[in-house]
Amino acid sequence: MSWWRPWADRIEPDAPIGAMTWYRIGGRARWLAHPRDAEDLAALCRRVRQEGLTLRVLGRGANVLVRDEGFDGVVVRLDAPSFTRVTFDGARVLAGGGADLMRLCRTCAERGLSGIEGLAAIPASIGGAVRMNAGGRFGQLGDVVRCATLLTVEGALREVEKAGIGFGYRTWGWDRAMVLSAELELAVDDPLRVRGRFKEYWRMKRATQPVGERSAGCVFKNPPQESSGRLIDSAGLKGATSGGAQVSLRHANFIVAAEDALAADVLRLADHVRRTVRDRFGTELELEMEVW
Ligand code: EPU
Repeated sequence: MSWWRPWADRIEPDAPIGAMTWYRIGGRARWLAHPRDAEDLAALCRRVRQEGLTLRVLGRGANVLVRDEGFDGVVVRLDAPSFTRVTFDGARVLAGGGADLMRLCRTCAERGLSGIEGLAAIPASIGGAVRMNAGGRFGQLGDVVRCATLLTVEGALREVEKAGIGFGYRTWGWDRAMVLSAELELAVDDPLRVRGRFKEYWRMKRATQPVGERSAGCVFKNPPQESSGRLIDSAGLKGATSGGAQVSLRHANFIVAAEDALAADVLRLADHVRRTVRDRFGTELELEMEVW
């Protein structure tokens, strides 16, 4: 009997997860699971561990590149209502790990809640955004997180206060743990002003990044006191191609993909960029996007 029989109605075998990422390229996952709630997910984690399989959570797929040969493991989507719920209590917001960050930013702006409008243009699930401490010039999510409920890969529940989450630059201290929910502490402000800032950030993003093209956002983390985009640009790599992948002409730290691109094209180009920047400036760029 297959290990996943108890989840047969909510596990898809051989699921096209590459097509669910922003790149819309890459292969399939051996299994794609849609757990019902935290308990169901915990049981799944324990079972997956017993089987010695690898487990990943796919949020909005905006920071992930799936290899062409696919992912040999279990991919989880937190798309059941118990994971996407958002509740408001004054300036406090409790958001499920599967809730959509962009939509939440918009709702908060409409309600006159300030603190995450700077993240309005970042495609992410709340869970992915907590895990990556998503952010940019206008702040990072960790700044407004009060606490979070996590599920470790062993299937254990943990309530963690901000200090224990260990936020860093595009990282946190919990490795592959899953975010079931996060509580945000926002500030009450005038809805018009919050919305105004929100729109301004979108305008700036559109002016400087290849919005609407297939990409995984910034490919590399910024080195300390440096900008990967500037380094890659200075190395003359803007517009460089490999198969269907191209270093964006708009922002050099993005690799955009044509419809017929392969994940291997993106990976080859990323490697070329990394080596060129290392040879040219002696700086070792570290991937920000995840490769599955
Ligand atoms: N620059 C260039 N050429 C380029 C791109 C940038 O010379 O092709 C220069 C810019 O002119 C600027 C400097 O590099 O002087 C920094 O560029 P930018 O302001 O665009 O910021 P960034 O450091 O490249 C970071 C985040 C972005 C975020 C922006 C804006 C990282 C790795 N990147 O980019 O986040 O949108 O700031 O807040 O932290 C992402 O995480 O996926 C992402 C896109």
